Amino acid sequence: MNSNNQPIGIFDSGIGGTSIWSAIHQLLPNEKTIYLADSKNAPYGQKSKEEIIALSMKNTEFLLEMNCKLIVVACNTATTNAIQELRLKYDVPFIGIEPAIKPAVTNSKTQIIGILATQGTLNSELFHKTIAKYQDTQIIEQVGHGLVQLIENGEINSPEMTQLLHSYLTPMIKANIDYLVLGCSHFPYLIPQIKKILPEHIQIIDSGQAVAKQTQKILAERIGFSSAEKTEPIFYTNINSKVLKEILENKYTVIEKDF
Ligand code: DGL
Repeated sequence: MNSNNQPIGIFDSGIGGTSIWSAIHQLLPNEKTIYLADSKNAPYGQKSKEEIIALSMKNTEFLLEMNCKLIVVACNTATTNAIQELRLKYDVPFIGIEPAIKPAVTNSKTQIIGILATQGTLNSELFHKTIAKYQDTQIIEQVGHGLVQLIENGEINSPEMTQLLHSYLTPMIKANIDYLVLGCSHFPYLIPQIKKILPEHIQIIDSGQAVAKQTQKILAERIGFSSAEKTEPIFYTNINSKVLKEILENKYTVIEKDF
């Protein structure tokens, strides 16, 4: 496979997909990455399937104009509602992110697991198809109402966040889950908060590492790796960049642009 120095494009409804970007950047530091935070339209979780498809196409076209060789849909809501339509319409390979139900079910001893995700993900056909495979495990679904918006507002450690997390997680703890699946790319930023609430024996799973490994595999098999030695990632946002810069610890270039 020849080398390929075109960038990898990554998009999310907002800043949460930077958790996925970070896993990709750590595994593949020589790859140039362009991240798109569509925060103006966040949250996607309450929108209709048609709206999510239209926004996902808009984001894809922006990244294709930047000559991306591969697009990572770093959003469970966009993946579960729109990836089939994206794959039909565009020639570029797509990698999506879905809640990591399989490893949780496989490793659960209580055969009871919890999932925290958006309404859009939990209502999607793709998610229903996935859970239908695991009839022997009880899967407790919880919509994380309000969480994405608080993260977008930079209120990760606010009392309101703590209160919401308590109300969503307490019933799962009482039901005896031993795995909690984070089915939204914003939620890894809540892990320190969640750990304070969950008993130690409950494992938390997200999909960042799996997406990074899948990205590596697709580059190896179909596209080619970058031959660059060092690259600087670029981040775009269509609102004020303050919260995105903070979540990136002010280390990278963030461009405000209307898209
Ligand atoms: N980060 C997203 C996800 O993984 C989207 C959340 C939202 O915009 O509602 O689902």
